[in-house]
Amino acid sequence: MDGEGIFVVFEGGDGVGKSTQARLLADWLTAQGREVVLTYEPGDTAIGAVLRDLVLSHSWGDVSPRAEALMYAADKAQHLYQLVLPALHRGAVVISDRYVDSMLAYQGAGRVLEPERVEQIARWATEDLLPDLTVLLDLDPAKGVGGITDKDRVEGAGAEFHVRARRFFLDLAAADAEHYLVVPARTGIEEIAAQVRARIASLLSAPAGTVNP
Ligand SMILES: Nc1ncnc2c1ncn2[C@@H]1O[C@H](COP(=O)(O)OP(=O)(O)O)[C@@H](O)[C@H]1O
Ligand SMILES: [Mg+2]
Repeated sequence: MDGEGIFVVFEGGDGVGKSTQARLLADWLTAQGREVVLTYEPGDTAIGAVLRDLVLSHSWGDVSPRAEALMYAADKAQHLYQLVLPALHRGAVVISDRYVDSMLAYQGAGRVLEPERVEQIARWATEDLLPDLTVLLDLDPAKGVGGITDKDRVEGAGAEFHVRARRFFLDLAAADAEHYLVVPARTGIEEIAAQVRARIASLLSAPAGTVNP
């Protein structure tokens, strides 16, 4: 796709270092003179911020899993439309802290909705746009969420839920190794950043036509 930017996503559980690594990668690319759009899901649009509050707040009582899935999907649709696609069309590098895999992993881990149906909704919402690279920061959930005291609805879900979500993330990566980099999350911050940079560097030097020069 000539004239297109590249789309990089960081995935994994809470507290694995997604925001840390997304920021480091953004700084590195910016220093090279690239336009970088650093963003996140859910919530990084005006509509998305409202939806984020809807899906993560405790104050709504019992939320229908289908309603929850549709709110996540609506956030993604707006995010793609308003922010991700325009940036990619300008040739920017878009770095998103979470994307479709988080929806698949968390909705799938809930064991209420059929994963195939959730994926159909998520892909429809995102116009089937796949990241050029997804970095999965993998961590035993017992070592991640455990440290957070003020938990939102997702963080406060049971340990089993987070174990299943981790499995979903790993299975998604295993099914499409070419587009994933899986890194153990508690190795050194700089060590992880170097692995990410190496992979992005090879993406940026890919043959013309696949990635913007
Ligand atoms: N590789 C790492 N090793 C140890 N601590 C880390 C590492 N990466 C991030 N951290 C720390 O873990 C916490 C969560 O990191 P953060 O990037 O906010 O995670 P996430 O965005 O995935 O929730 C922060 O205090 C951060 O400094
Ligand atoms: Mg974060």
